[in-house]
Amino acid sequence: MPSWLSLYYEQPIEIVSGRGRRVTDSEGRTYLDFFAGILTSMLGYDVPEVREAVERQLRTGVAHTSTLYLIRSQVELAERIAGLSGIADAKVFFTNSGTEANETALLLATNARRSDQVLALRNSYHGRSYGAMAVTGNRGWKNSSLSPVNVHYLHGTDRDRFPHLSDEEFLAFCADDLRQVLATATATDVACLIAEPVQGVGGFTAAPDGLLARYREILDEHGILLVSDEVQTGWGRTGEHFWGFQAHGVTPDVLTFAKGLGNGFAIGGVVADGALMDALPANGISTFGGNPIATAAARATLDYLLAHDLQANARRLGRLLIDGLRTAVEGLPVVGEVRGRGLMFAVDLVDPDGGAPSPALAARVLEEARQRGLLIGKGGLHGNTLRMAPPLTLTEDEATEGLGILVDSLTAVG
Ligand SMILES: Cc1ncc(COP(=O)(O)O)c(C=O)c1O
Repeated sequence: MPSWLSLYYEQPIEIVSGRGRRVTDSEGRTYLDFFAGILTSMLGYDVPEVREAVERQLRTGVAHTSTLYLIRSQVELAERIAGLSGIADAKVFFTNSGTEANETALLLATNARRSDQVLALRNSYHGRSYGAMAVTGNRGWKNSSLSPVNVHYLHGTDRDRFPHLSDEEFLAFCADDLRQVLATATATDVACLIAEPVQGVGGFTAAPDGLLARYREILDEHGILLVSDEVQTGWGRTGEHFWGFQAHGVTPDVLTFAKGLGNGFAIGGVVADGALMDALPANGISTFGGNPIATAAARATLDYLLAHDLQANARRLGRLLIDGLRTAVEGLPVVGEVRGRGLMFAVDLVDPDGGAPSPALAARVLEEARQRGLLIGKGGLHGNTLRMAPPLTLTEDEATEGLGILVDSLTAVG
């Protein structure tokens, strides 16, 4: 296995079973899971509705056919997602991952605009392939400067670097900067802006609401397309909205999704206006994308999510957790900031002397939480951000339990 495929914890955990929001490791220890396999086991573990849908498909004897043949569950899922997307005359193409979804989005935009120029946000993460890495604005995840696209980075989620500006002034500054970039750094037409409404790997950092609408006004003057990377923010996770872009008051031309949709089965995809999607001049295929097993799991996951209004659950418990955490850690010198939206919230760890980002303290809190039976994630530009994103089926009791462990773990290092 490659050295760059790093594991969490001094003593790595092997998860061997799971049920609800809890997983058990190979040594028999059970944990409450507040990271859900990087926001992917969106309903939790061993959900009967998803298991039965997959088992039904397996019993047909067909795990795979390829898109050379009609896959009913794929077509029905595409219709469902097109309807939910808010994009007019939408078409959906299924992939196996978020990276491939973003590659497809970049292909659609660069083809339609006959341009290799792309705008992205600083501190972004869009995947591990050449194209997706090229629009990633986080050095810790950029393994190469080779790039099929020509990228310029915009401000937005670096709000904390401009404390002297009000939100409104910051939005005006960002809009002005975009105009400057277009006027000074780009050549002829630009294809698109790709943005995560809340940055995932970046540490659950977000621009003030409305930034994408401000950008959109300027992009529209030039015909530049907007791509929203909803790989982490989709399906109601942010509580207030079903898609992250809705917080900004815009509808993108293209949206990409992956992670939670299959509740652990590999599925991603891209939604775009039909004309944009159909404009590709040659054939295209994803052998595994939208396969019968993954689409059966995804349909069951989506049905469950909507029937149980998990977006409302994310909103309610997100508020409880974020407010509770803010109150509990107030005055703790190791805590820089608590932020988040719905069941996607984060804490920055800082050095109590001087306030510099402290990845070492973040690593210690990760271990402390593990000792107390809670799994959480890490991230951020400096690696000092703890990221929490439990399954959207979280109960209030579990939220309270996890909050207690988090506070105890932070206090233990603080
Ligand atoms: C916002 C975002 N986009 C794209 C990706 C890439 O997805 P994948 O790892 O499924 O290729 C990720 C993965 O973490 C992500 O967070």
